[in-house]
Amino acid sequence: MRKIFFLSVMFVAIFLLSACGDEPPSNVTNGDAGQLIRVGFSQADFTESDWRIANTESMRQAFSRENGFDLIIVDAQNDPNKQLADVANLIEQDVDYIVIATVQEIGWEGVLQQARDAGIPVILVDRTAAVSDDLFATWVGADFREEGEIAVRWLQEFKGYDVRAVHLQGVMGSTAQAGRTAAFVDGAASNGWAIYASMTANWDTEQARQVMQNWLTMFPDINVVFAENDNMADGAIQAIEAAGLTAGGYDGITIISFDANRRYLQLALDTGKINFNVESNPLHGPRVAEIILALERGEAVSRINYVGGEAFDWRYLTQEIIDARMY
Ligand code: AHR
Repeated sequence: MRKIFFLSVMFVAIFLLSACGDEPPSNVTNGDAGQLIRVGFSQADFTESDWRIANTESMRQAFSRENGFDLIIVDAQNDPNKQLADVANLIEQDVDYIVIATVQEIGWEGVLQQARDAGIPVILVDRTAAVSDDLFATWVGADFREEGEIAVRWLQEFKGYDVRAVHLQGVMGSTAQAGRTAAFVDGAASNGWAIYASMTANWDTEQARQVMQNWLTMFPDINVVFAENDNMADGAIQAIEAAGLTAGGYDGITIISFDANRRYLQLALDTGKINFNVESNPLHGPRVAEIILALERGEAVSRINYVGGEAFDWRYLTQEIIDARMY
């Protein structure tokens, strides 16, 4: 019953997420070969996670000169103030479009008003900004709260009411952290689950390992780790094993993760150390390039462009699934 039940839930999860258009469009090229479109991309942080590395590469490939773009890419290094200065500098350079993956949602009114006054359309990618709709042209990203709710539904099916969890959060105030956290906190409240502790590890493996190491001494009966990305799940697993405990499988501390990077799905298949992983597709480059070309043609674009994904239970993973992954 469990397997049949879960497979139906898994199907629903895949359906709900992929109904929002998870396949990147085919190769996107600027038809006007003579004139390169100058795009300034402010990335939250080049190296914060496997996800971010894949996201940056997707943008670099989509916004190539061969595709008709001149890409200026700047790394905010997860510093919200630096990112504001980076975007102000892109405005100074008078690029044609500004694309932003925000470190944090707050603090954007001023610089986005400058972009609007300069006549430069802003596209938000991955993360959003807490500003009025007239300050950006569109947003492309995942429904992070839905991702968290899919993980909660899986945990309900797998653990029932017996959840004694710790919660590793991403960079506080980022859209992904806010959505996944909200879903987990609400899910815990409605299921009567215990969340012994929540803390940011800034998407980072080593920070997560240190936080988890402390929690294991404070809470000896933890049975679930809710990690808001793969790199932090990795750190938690390292701490669990260093303490002589078991991560994942049926009998270990249940590990929930997000991003579904290939190497972490392989870890789940080979060892069962990540029990459930919710994909958050980073391959936004072609989608954003397609939107810019539509804007160049004077076409209207939808304000919200959700990018779907899948969810992976370690019990049903296969090498074929993993080998087909694009990142
Ligand atoms: O905004 C998406 C999140 O940012 C990913 O889940 C995380 O790995 C990345 O750094």
